[in-house]
Amino acid sequence: MTVTQDGAAAAQPSPAIAQVAYHDGEFVPLERALLPVTTQALQYGTGVFEGIRAYAQDDRGLAIFRAHDHYRRLLRSSRTLRIDLGRSVEELCELTAELLRRIGTTEDTYVRPLAYKRALLPGQKPGVSLSGVSDALSVNAFRMGSYTDPAGIRCTISSWRRPPSDALPVRAKVTGGYVNNALAVDEARAAGCDDAILLNSRGQVAEASTSNVFAVIGGRLVTPPVTADLLEGITRDTVVTLAADLLGTPTDFRDLGRDELVGADEVFLTGTGTEIVPVTEVAGRPVADGAPGPLTTALMGAYQNVVRGREPRYGHWLHPVHV
Ligand SMILES: Cc1ncc(COP(=O)(O)O)c(C=O)c1O
Repeated sequence: MTVTQDGAAAAQPSPAIAQVAYHDGEFVPLERALLPVTTQALQYGTGVFEGIRAYAQDDRGLAIFRAHDHYRRLLRSSRTLRIDLGRSVEELCELTAELLRRIGTTEDTYVRPLAYKRALLPGQKPGVSLSGVSDALSVNAFRMGSYTDPAGIRCTISSWRRPPSDALPVRAKVTGGYVNNALAVDEARAAGCDDAILLNSRGQVAEASTSNVFAVIGGRLVTPPVTADLLEGITRDTVVTLAADLLGTPTDFRDLGRDELVGADEVFLTGTGTEIVPVTEVAGRPVADGAPGPLTTALMGAYQNVVRGREPRYGHWLHPVHV
């Protein structure tokens, strides 16, 4: 099946849309969460965002996974674009929990906070600018369960390179930067594949369109370092932690060449939307025997246990919605 930019599944019906959003400082019916065409972020891509999942817990309602880490990253991204939300990480977590309570769901939900440049302040001349423009925050959410195919996906190596960090702040989750990701996905789909793996300007693996990349090579887990021009994924960090703690497997952070991917024993992607998905084909070649590998499969199981609250030692990663 196809992995899409926003985490929707092309082969399945669209996820049901929850009917409440946070917009303009209040909780409003979703149809009132609208923006004028003059919105600066729409014109110049000057917004930052997050993708967060809330998971149904086995016996304790809904919990937001690593909410603090997502909002810490949102505030970091916001600073890059001079967006001042005037809210703390804790306040943003609580705002999200309140949104989910108002939506009234206890099913798996995807949360999309968006902080953006809104309107020119009085007396400001039109143009591309990060100052002299008001800031805003909107948060919407929709029901979304796991959508990746546990049997694995097929990836191209994109002809679109990941921009270097001296051209675009690639470690911030900036809306405008996602034109690069969209072009890479579009190319992958046109080639009949599910997703694209992008190389950086040095020709080393950076990441996939909306996920980080891991490979298993000679029994070692390898992922590119943050200096490879990638978004430092929160799922990436979760996987590194779980591999070490639960499976006794350390991770090597080092440059990964396209030739190594093609010859790896296992390849998988990690991301909030994606979760952990095996890559069973890269650039038209099967990865090993073309079936998900044992380390990938073990990590997928461990991840589900953690996000659903079955591993008490990681309880601090779960922000309860109903207390
Ligand atoms: C470009 C990109 N890389 C990596 C990731 C994975 O990040 P995370 O695990 O924090 O969702 C995402 C998703 O947010 C992404 O959009």
